[in-house]
Amino acid sequence: MSNLILLGTQWGDEGKGKIVDWLTQHFDIVARYQGGNNAGHTVIIDDKKHVLHLIPSGILRPGRKCVIGNGVVIDPEALFTEIDELAEAGVEVDGRLIISERAHIILPYHRGKELGSEMRRGDENIGTTSRGIGPCYEDKMARSGIRVVDCVSPDVLAQKVRDNLSVVNELLACLYEYPPFDADEIIETYLSYGERLRPYVGDTSLYLNQAIESGKKILIEGAQGTHLDIDHGTYPFVTSSNATAGGVCSGLGIGPTQIDAVLGVAKAYTTRVGSGPFPSELNNDLGEQLRSEGNEFGATTGRPRRCGSLDAVVLRYSARVNACDSLVLTKLDVLDSLESIPICTAYQIGNEHRDEMPAETWLLDQVTPVIEEMPGWQTPTSSIKDWANLPQACRDYVKRVSELVSCEVGVLSVGAERRAIITVPGTRFGDRLASTRD
Ligand code: GDP
Ligand code: IMO
Ligand code: MG
Repeated sequence: MSNLILLGTQWGDEGKGKIVDWLTQHFDIVARYQGGNNAGHTVIIDDKKHVLHLIPSGILRPGRKCVIGNGVVIDPEALFTEIDELAEAGVEVDGRLIISERAHIILPYHRGKELGSEMRRGDENIGTTSRGIGPCYEDKMARSGIRVVDCVSPDVLAQKVRDNLSVVNELLACLYEYPPFDADEIIETYLSYGERLRPYVGDTSLYLNQAIESGKKILIEGAQGTHLDIDHGTYPFVTSSNATAGGVCSGLGIGPTQIDAVLGVAKAYTTRVGSGPFPSELNNDLGEQLRSEGNEFGATTGRPRRCGSLDAVVLRYSARVNACDSLVLTKLDVLDSLESIPICTAYQIGNEHRDEMPAETWLLDQVTPVIEEMPGWQTPTSSIKDWANLPQACRDYVKRVSELVSCEVGVLSVGAERRAIITVPGTRFGDRLASTRD
């Protein structure tokens, strides 16, 4: 297991940060390949909570290097806030973080554009994190983006900001009656950002490829989740990047033959923040219970997360799209008190039975989930360390999920804390990671 991808299989917030933190002991470098500070990855170490938005969660493990790849979009202000907060918590970032010179930069007008377009969509809004992520990726694809390398080159930066604002100000005024952005002000601010960015900037593709050649191990940290992926998610209610395994090569500048395995993180139930279809959503007491027991409030925006039962259709699709070798099932402890646990195994749409995700997003709103009830275990699991000591009903739930998804479940998480992890014996990943006790 040299180079491993770890990614979300649902709509984000699966607990990726916690699992990355646990796994970093086996890796030298942790790299982000997409997304930006729309992510919120929570890591709890010895009762201390850290929420990472842009910097890979590996930064919390002393000695590990962290890479922000070219596929990530960077809001420099958010990055500096994060670096400062980490320093305050005693985590040294300098000398450990390398940022791609090819990554794109979020500018204030990206947030302005997003605000306008979300307002214009009205009831059909995406419910974005308002971080300017979508418009920044739009500029990248329109070939008018500003990259880190531009931000550290004063003349280039000034010219690009002026060129862009000559269009953006007119557009925003026309569409949303938005007041104009001041070019000089943005240039001055971003030049100072460039100065602070400079020591971190490098050719991260070269760095990673050289590291691989010299035998270093890389953990690749996904943000968001498969069903928020721009190509494979519930479009248009998605984010603007490729959160799936496919995004790794383009987002880091490494080749597919350098990736050894893919680990999918799945919550033991399902949550979603923002708008969009959610076939297994529970708008009832059980949904409320999951929200309060799982503390399901966004790590980035604080918004309450919508909650529902585990959706095997969603997970099957993710296991296939990402070619997952194994799944990590998180937040299993949140189900501890339930008498009976519903699993959505398929979709009924009108008279049709569907085992696969339809591409027609609007059909997902018409789904009646096909539900299988599993008996609950009604026993606390958070302090259990071994598979053999888990209640039988809990083991049955895990096995049933694995069966329905046709993918092994190798690791379980039964609490937010670093050590609340159980490996599943007899699985490829569980056995490989069984000695990991930290
Ligand atoms: P990420 O975006 O995928 O990293 O997930 P978030 O950090 O946004 O949300 C996951 C939340 O669940 C965080 O508050 C974690 O501290 C918490 N968490 C992670 N794993 C577990 C677990 O196994 N049990 C419980 N109860 N909480 C967990
Ligand atoms: P992590 O990495 C959950 C959601 C937003 C919105 C949609 C588009 O913590 O799992 P965007 O701001 O990206 O344009 O918003 O995507 N979203 C997330 N939901 N977890 C995330 O990240 C998310 N990042 C974006 O709520 O529905
Ligand atoms: Mg999150």
